[in-house]
This record gives sequence, structure tokens and C-alpha cells, in this order.
Amino acid sequence: MASDPLALDIEKDAPGPLFLAIAGAITRDIMRGRLKPGTRLPGTRALAGELDVHRNTVDAAYQELTTQGWLHAEPARGTFVAEDLPDNMVEPVAVSTPFEPAMVRPHLAFSDGAPDPNLVPDKALARAFRRALLSPAFRTGTDYGDARGTPVLRHALSSYLTSDRGVVADPARLLITRGSQMALFLAAKAAVKPGQAIAVEEPGYPLAWEAFRAAGATVRGIPVDAGGLSVTALEEAIATDSRIAAIYVTPHHQYPTTVTMGAARRLQLLELVERYGITLIEDDYDHEYRFEGRPVLPLATRAPADLPLIYVGSLSKLLSPGIRLGYATAPEPLFTRMATARAAIDRQGDAPLEAALADLIRDGDLGRHARKARRIYRARRDVLASALSAHLDGRIDFDSPAGGLALWLRSKNVSAETWAERAEAAGLALLPGTRFTLERPAQQALRLGYAALNEAQIVRAVEILAQSWPG
Ligand SMILES: Cc1ncc(COP(=O)(O)O)c(C=O)c1O
Repeated sequence: MASDPLALDIEKDAPGPLFLAIAGAITRDIMRGRLKPGTRLPGTRALAGELDVHRNTVDAAYQELTTQGWLHAEPARGTFVAEDLPDNMVEPVAVSTPFEPAMVRPHLAFSDGAPDPNLVPDKALARAFRRALLSPAFRTGTDYGDARGTPVLRHALSSYLTSDRGVVADPARLLITRGSQMALFLAAKAAVKPGQAIAVEEPGYPLAWEAFRAAGATVRGIPVDAGGLSVTALEEAIATDSRIAAIYVTPHHQYPTTVTMGAARRLQLLELVERYGITLIEDDYDHEYRFEGRPVLPLATRAPADLPLIYVGSLSKLLSPGIRLGYATAPEPLFTRMATARAAIDRQGDAPLEAALADLIRDGDLGRHARKARRIYRARRDVLASALSAHLDGRIDFDSPAGGLALWLRSKNVSAETWAERAEAAGLALLPGTRFTLERPAQQALRLGYAALNEAQIVRAVEILAQSWPG
């Protein structure tokens, strides 16, 4: 049966590729409810005729929307509006000219590396949450639970960490936290006495510094170079500053520069930590996203079992930062100190949410979601890298990240701060290097967290970036 014409409202004169304008018009109609889940779309030839464009252009629009999960293609049957659309869909950015006042233009932002909330497996999560609320464990449980977290989730996460990261984490020594932010605070509480210091990467993750300070520690910056944390500089600092009792690192994708620490430096770091008896806090955030090469396993897989290493992870990058779920594992006595401190500030976590996430892990929903998200983010990373090369070639410097949800863009001879101010005025929010520094001069660079933007938005954001270049 032939489908009705779509009567799409396409901004054909808008900058950017035509297939993205078509894709944008289709998503707007889906969001308005004009196109309902399950509706069959016209064939590419018919729609191309209707719109007076080349068939390949419609094909590209359908493919883009299929990759993003808006459409669903069934071989020999056609292309349909997906049945399981995200609940919290956002309007794709309206393509506008850069000279309109910022007030009327949709605001775009390169985040610090947030995932796309539209990809959250919301239906599966809602079903699992409902099951958890109806379960006998929840209905008959009248007392508080274990401060370490719901046992089913500690068991599920333990298997997940072993298979995904090679980390052998005994469920008895796995602590569920409300996001890794809480785990970082507890790590500092357990590892450091008031007045002692935690060495941190600089540039680095300011929210970790805040957590460490709140736990009574001072924070001392150690430079980061093209290979990640400088272990030589760390050794000099430890040798001359006896207050340093711990080191915080993001070896998988250094925050914010995205560099992966190489094997030789990892061994050097482990050897140094062992020699000086300091605690190593490893933040394995966004490890789910590796696009190239073999996965790089965390330091925790190479450390001797009794090394004071606190391994911290988060589901914020896999699901959403709004779903507060982090975890940590450590040898004794660090682990018990962390669990005791957790009970003091929060008694226990959110039991139904923890049970629901355990379901998601065990049923394979989380793994399927990770594979889908990885595919989509890899495509977005590629769009970002090619748009940057096309629009800013010669004026910038970057390495396409092998993983993670952000790209570190070096602005060469211009001030990244000025660039961010100009882009902001044109409707694009950016994070310049000054946001990530402690005492050292900031790198002239921007952290472009791209994953929450769709491909059309990425292209548009890079256009604004190029138009606001301050050189
Ligand atoms: C370096 C780093 N660690 C951890 C996290 C995750 O934080 P949380 O689990 O508290 O949401 C983030 C999120 O931005 C991060 O950038």
C-alpha cells in the first residue's frame, strides 16, 4: 500500500547538507505527533519526487535517522517511525544564520563530555524500576539495606566489571555510590588525613578537586603532557612534599585532554605508588567508549592485590548523569573506611533504582545499549573531526580521540577564552582550558564534548566555531 505524501516543512536554503534538513523536518514531525510510531514512510524514490531532490539525498536522511533510532528499516517492507522513541525527545537545532541575535537563536553547547539523554534505554529502565517496586524484596523490606549497596547490583556489577574491564571486584568489596562524585569524596576521606595532600592531573577534573577539598585534603597539581600525567614530575613532587598521600588519575581518557596513558608510564606509575606507599585513586569514567584499537584495561588490573588502589567508575556516561550511580572497589582497610563514611552521610542508596539497574545488566539491556551508543558516538566523533578539518584547517590542532565523549581542540595562536566568549555571543557555549587548571597557565584549548549533539547540530556548532574564530 502506498504511503501518504509527507508534506514536510524543509528549510532548503538553510546552511548545511540538504539530507540533514530533511532529517530535521522528519524528526520535528515525529515530535509534534504528525508522524506516529509505526507509521510507514514513503519510499525514497517517492519522497525524492515529492521534494524534488535526488533519491540519494532522501536515502542519506533515512539512514541518518535510522542510525539515531528515530526510524526503523525493515528489509523488503520499508522504513517506519520507530516504536520505541525516547520519551524526552528534544527539538533538533533549527539551522539559523550566525548573525541573528543570540536571544532568538537556539543555544548549542559543547558539553564537558555528557552522553545523549535521548539514547537512554528509558522503556527498559522504567519496566525494570516498576518490577523492582512490585518485588517482594521491596514490599516486605521494612528495614534499611546494606550501606555498600543492594546485593543484586553488587553481584551484577562485579561480573560486568570482570568481563568489561578485567577488574576482579569481590561483590563484598564493591561499594555503590550516588555517582562517582560521592566515591571520590569517600576515597579522599579514607585515604587522606586532614592537612595531607592529593596530587592531581593539571589540567584536570575540578569537581574531583572539590570533593577532595571537602574531605579535608589539599590538592597539588602535577603537569600533564602528550602522554598523560607526567610520572617524573609526580616523583619530584612526592620526594619533596611529604604531605602527598594519594594521586588521582584518569588514565583511560585523561580529563580534559583525552590522552590515553601508555603502557610504560602505567608501569612507572604503579611502581612509584608502591615505592612511596601512597594511595592511587583511578577514575575509569567513560571507559565504555573505545572506538579504535584494543580496549585499554585499567591500572587496577595490573596492580598487586594489596596495593592501596581505589578504583572508581560511573554509569553517568553510559546512561545519564541524572541517574546517580557510581561504584568503587578497594582493598582493606580502605574499603571499610569508605563504606563506613558512606553510611554516615547517606545510610544507603536508592534500593529500587539499584535493583532495576541490576536487571538491566543481567538481561543484557545495558550491553546492547552500550553497543548502540558506541556506534552512534563514533559516527558523531567522525562528523566532528571532518567538520573541524573542513572549516578550520590550519587554524587548529587536534587528535581525533580513540575513545570517550569529547575532543580536545588546541587553538594554536589564538586565545581559547576569547574564542569561547565570541562563540557564546553567537549561540554556542564552549569550555576553554581555563576551566580545567589549578595554578599553571591554562592550555589554549577547548574541550568539545560532542556526544549529546546530533550530527546536524555538530555541523552547525562547528560552523559557529569557525565564524567566531578570533584570529
Ligand atoms: C573525570 C570524570 N569523572 C567522573 C565523572 C562522572 O561523575 P558522576 O558519576 O558523579 O556523574 C565525570 C563526569 O563528567 C568526569 O568527567
